[in-house]
Parts: sequence; C-alpha cells; structure tokens
Amino acid sequence: MSPSTSLSISDHLRQELTDKLEKYRHLSDDTPDQGTTNGHGSTDSEQVLNAILKSDKIASEEQVGQAVDEYIGGKPLAYITGQHSFGGLDLTIRRPIYIPRVETEQWVLLLAKHILDNTPPDKTIRILDICSGSGCIPLLLALEGKGRIHTIGLDVDDIALEVARENAKRNKIDHLSTFQKLDLFSEQDVERVRGELGGSFDLVVSNPPYVSSKDMKEVETKWHEGKYALQGKLKDRQRKEGENDNGNDDDEDDDGYSFYRRILEIYTPFLSSTRPSSIPKLVLEIGSTQSRPVQEMYRDQGRMEVYKETERRKDLSAPKLEHGNMVGTERSLWIYEKGQ
Ligand SMILES: C[S@@+](CC[C@H](N)C(=O)[O-])C[C@H]1O[C@@H](n2cnc3c(N)ncnc32)[C@H](O)[C@@H]1O
Repeated sequence: MSPSTSLSISDHLRQELTDKLEKYRHLSDDTPDQGTTNGHGSTDSEQVLNAILKSDKIASEEQVGQAVDEYIGGKPLAYITGQHSFGGLDLTIRRPIYIPRVETEQWVLLLAKHILDNTPPDKTIRILDICSGSGCIPLLLALEGKGRIHTIGLDVDDIALEVARENAKRNKIDHLSTFQKLDLFSEQDVERVRGELGGSFDLVVSNPPYVSSKDMKEVETKWHEGKYALQGKLKDRQRKEGENDNGNDDDEDDDGYSFYRRILEIYTPFLSSTRPSSIPKLVLEIGSTQSRPVQEMYRDQGRMEVYKETERRKDLSAPKLEHGNMVGTERSLWIYEKGQ
C-alpha cells in the first residue's frame, strides 16, 4: 500500500515551489535546517516538496501547487500528504486525528528495548494502550517487539480506530495489534472492556489528551488537530453523525489532568497477576509542565522513573509549534510495582 513512486514535475515548477517555500520561511522556526544538520544534503523546502510529490493523495501539478500553499498557510504536512513516519512505521494520518510526535517516538522506542532486554525471550508481553489515536504507540511497540509484543489500542473516536486498523494492515502487523472502541469516561464501556480483557495485560500505556480548556483556543488553531485529540474532558464525547471536527463549545472546564485521574481509577484490573515485575506496569506520556502534579497523583502506585526528552528532532510533518527546544523536559512516567 505504501507509495513507492514520486510524482514528476517540471524543473521550472520544482524551482518555483522550492523558492516559494524558502521565501515564506515557514520552515525556519528555531531549529536549524535539516539539510544542514543531518547530512541528507537537501534543504527543508526540498524535503517538504519531496514529501508532497510522494503522497498518494496528490496526482497533478495543480494539486502540488495547492499543497505547497496549504503548507505555507500553516497546515501540518501530515494532513496534506496523509502520511507520517513514526519510528519504522509508515502511518496514514487524516484530520482530525492526532499527528504522532517525536517525543512520543523517543519513549516508545526506549520502552520496547527495555521490555525486550528485561523479559524472557519466550514470554509474550501484552500491552494495553489507552487513547490510541493513529495507533502509533501500540503499532511501534508491536513492530519493535518482533512477535514478542502484542498490543490492544482503545479509543473513543471512530475515525481514529479506522485509521489505526488501516495502519496495522499497512505495516503488516495486524496479527500483533488490534483496536477497540472505548470511552474512558463511560462506566459501561470500561466495564465491558474489563469483562473481555481484564487481568490479561503486562503493561498499560497512554498518551492521553492533556490540553486544558484554558490553553485549548490557542493550541487547536495552531496545531489544526481536532478537540477530541487534544483536550482533557469534553462534555459531549460521543461525536455526532457527520461531525469530524471540534465538537461543541459547551465543554466542561478541564485543567488538563482529567485523563490522568481517570486512568488512575481504572487501570489496575487490566493487569495480569503474573506479569513480570522487571518492566513497568504503567507508562504515561505527560505534557511539558505536568510532570510534578502527575507524579504526585500517582505517588502511591509504586516506584517511579521519569524520562526526559532527549532530542528535539525537527519533524517537518507535525504542527510547527512543536519545534521549540524542550530537550531535558520530563515527558514520560514509568511506574513499577511497589517494592521493585
Ligand atoms: C493526544 S491524542 C494521542 C493519540 C496517540 N496516543 C498518539 O500518541 O499519537 C489523544 C487520543 O485520545 C482519544 N480520546 C479522547 N477522548 C477519549 C475518551 N473519552 N476515551 C478514549 N479515548 C479518548 C482521542 O480520540 C485521541 O485519539
């Protein structure tokens, strides 16, 4: 399914569009041009244009021009091309689902290695991912696990579930990774999924929505993602027929911590009593300012390790606000059994 060919355009148009991209300086932000730092030998503008030309959504010179204009207008490249790389995965992405971030890729790769290094080679590790979006976390864990890691992703959003299943197939790991619908705040849903899957996981992971209602206005216009993907708790969580965007304005006030509180209430019964204590039982991604409060919330749960962002790799495909320097910021909490 992945595209192997690139649309060819005239040298003249290529030059014109590259110049246009350069001129608008939308690629500059505060990190250096990829071409100058990673030895690919191409500038950010050339990389953006190449990604557009490779997209299986774009089939004519006119569409290429439109795509460049959309990019200059601030639309994330992943939504323009419909594609996004995450670790070794080639993901399909479409609005309004969340575009996976570099900081998530970092801790997921670290976690996969930690699991493989700290569990017997003949043991299958089962992981539950809550709020799975495009499926990036469970799919990358499954891919890296090379058959040893099996995952189930849960999300409330039908579009996200559809895309995640598509991504499992696209990356040929649908035998290792499946997805189910769940509204985390519905008692009925949690009961149902617990009835089916309770007690069967070695680890629960999540990168939930963590934007507060206060920050939402700024973030949703800059990032272009849907409210469901970003904000803590929404009053009307059941997306209405045909509505694929930003819900309504009548949302509950949220401080950005509602998902962390809810996960704390519900995660334990999903864990197996025979799970290996050498790996964490719960891993949470946290917003850049949320480390202390979330640690405080989970302090009785067991020994905690905090992982910092190690590298702020520029990702041309994700929303541009992401390019600030956050190296050294605490971004994931790994919680082990008490006494481990
Ligand atoms: C920040 S995105 C993260 C997606 C993915 N984990 C990632 O890292 O790219 C949060 C996800 O939570 C989902 N979500 C929002 N409200 C939910 C709820 N009540 N129950 C389950 N999932 C929910 C959204 O649909 C979205 O896919």
